[in-house]
Amino acid sequence: MKKSLSLLLALVLLLALAVPAYAADPARKVETKSGVTVMHAADWKEEFPSQYETWLQNSENDEIVDYLEEYPYLRTLYEGYGFAIDYGSARGHYYDVEDIEATGRPHPLANCWTCKTPDFTNMVNEEGIEAYKKDWTEVQAEVTEGISCYSCHANTPGEITVTHTYWIDALGDDFDSVAGANLACGQCHNEYYFEPETKATTIAHNSLESMAPETMLAFFNDGSNFSTGEPFADWTNPRTGVRMIKVQHPEFETFMGAGSQHAGTFTCADCHMAKQTAEDGTVTHSHYLTSPLDNEELIANTCSLCHNGSLQPELKDQVAAVQAEIEELTNAVGNQLADLTEKLAAAVETGEYTDEQLAEVRQLARDAQFYWDFVFVENAEGAHNSALSRDCLGKAESLCADAVSALEALTA
Ligand code: HEC
Ligand code: HEC
Ligand code: HEC
Ligand code: HEC
Repeated sequence: MKKSLSLLLALVLLLALAVPAYAADPARKVETKSGVTVMHAADWKEEFPSQYETWLQNSENDEIVDYLEEYPYLRTLYEGYGFAIDYGSARGHYYDVEDIEATGRPHPLANCWTCKTPDFTNMVNEEGIEAYKKDWTEVQAEVTEGISCYSCHANTPGEITVTHTYWIDALGDDFDSVAGANLACGQCHNEYYFEPETKATTIAHNSLESMAPETMLAFFNDGSNFSTGEPFADWTNPRTGVRMIKVQHPEFETFMGAGSQHAGTFTCADCHMAKQTAEDGTVTHSHYLTSPLDNEELIANTCSLCHNGSLQPELKDQVAAVQAEIEELTNAVGNQLADLTEKLAAAVETGEYTDEQLAEVRQLARDAQFYWDFVFVENAEGAHNSALSRDCLGKAESLCADAVSALEALTA
């Protein structure tokens, strides 16, 4: 009796430690090949007016910053790839179809619609991964709206449903332990790649643990993971011959990664979807996705419990300080990588060195740029997890220095 009681106590304690506080709100997984058609936002206008109206409000986030002008070294780092031609910052969901239609980057295949419209999500779910290989324009003709209710709820608004099947694979057995309000956003705010042969949108991890940057890099570097048998590359820099990985927008992997201050406490929705109380007392989430810094109520009632100037800096000061630090470090390492690129390009241009001789420098340059890009493309600029951002930039800097030394040794 005594023994089983203490066993029970130990079990309860273990559960309390292991199960995150939000385990009560997991997400559903979309049913595929079920013959459903997408219900669009306008279909829910009457039933869910507040979610519909606030969803439309995403049009207010309408600014695009030209990254190529703001960060001149990008033309060198992304040379030979679309991002060196046209690279503007993200803006509100409202504009996503317009923005993909306007981009100067080439996008021949339908897979570029993956994170843009439920019309394509449903096409993949119904037809299978062959849909990723369709012509981009063929799908364009079928697109009726951008990111919408179906993207996060399927046809049951209010219930979080993961509708992007690759994202179900990306979490593996951890799926049910992650709050639906994190999984919903993670479907697109993640690091993905197009599988070289099937062209299917795919994620380089299959659990929470394997989404650490170093584990993903090891995955990309291991040719046995790809149908081509070669380490993965998005493109090859034409002057250096380095086979590069372009990181995308790893908000989920960063916020949920090691070192995050708030991954166990708050969800993406807590910080980016303000709670609003109607006259009858009903609480809903604003579907206008904004910065927590614009949410005075959240700051006053929740964040200021700690971020109040005595325990921690005020929230706005904390975010400003973290972002300034990470931005400065990102630019410093970005410029170091641009120098390395020029030096390596010069060595390649002489024609004096074989691919075998250049292999080590190229590998170091590839790995360094991967770690740097992991931070550069993350949209919170350090605020989601500055420990991880710092760690990645440190790795990028030291790999870059190793590449410069190896190159100097070769060309001396
Ligand atoms: C179906 C894919 C998809 C899902 C799901 C998604 N996003 Fe996005 N998000 C995007 C895309 C694509 C953009 C960029 C749109 C553009 O620039 O045209 C974006 C942009 C944003 C922006 C604006 C960024 C900026 O720099 O101004 C915010 C904020 C944002 N998303 C937050 C969220 C949150 C929070 C969630 C979950 C509640 C979420 N997103 C779910 C695809 C998605
Ligand atoms: C603890 C609060 C918090 C949580 C939880 C959180 N974020 Fe953020 N997020 C921030 C802050 C702070 C910023 C920086 C805002 C600013 O610069 O005004 C930010 C910025 C962003 C941006 C860029 C927005 C812009 O306007 O530039 C995106 C996109 C984003 N977060 C997505 C996510 C996603 C997806 C998740 C969940 C995986 C998430 N966030 C979880 C606090 C949070
Ligand atoms: C980018 C993802 C996303 C999109 C798009 C989206 N929702 Fe939501 N929705 C959420 C999240 C996250 C929650 C909060 C759920 C939670 O924390 O359990 C939510 C909550 C809800 C709820 C529950 C009540 C509330 O407000 O908290 C309803 C109803 C709802 N959404 C309807 C809609 C409708 C209708 C649309 C389209 C006009 C829509 N949603 C579009 C992510 C989304
Ligand atoms: C229970 C206390 C507590 C609450 C409540 C809290 N924070 Fe924090 N927050 C912290 C601590 C501790 C840190 C780490 C401070 C440091 O490293 O200097 C932190 C750091 C941060 C950072 C910087 C993250 C990083 O990795 O550098 C952001 C952004 C942030 N909090 C946003 C928020 C927002 C938004 C809210 C309200 C939704 C909030 N916090 C509520 C304790 C809290």
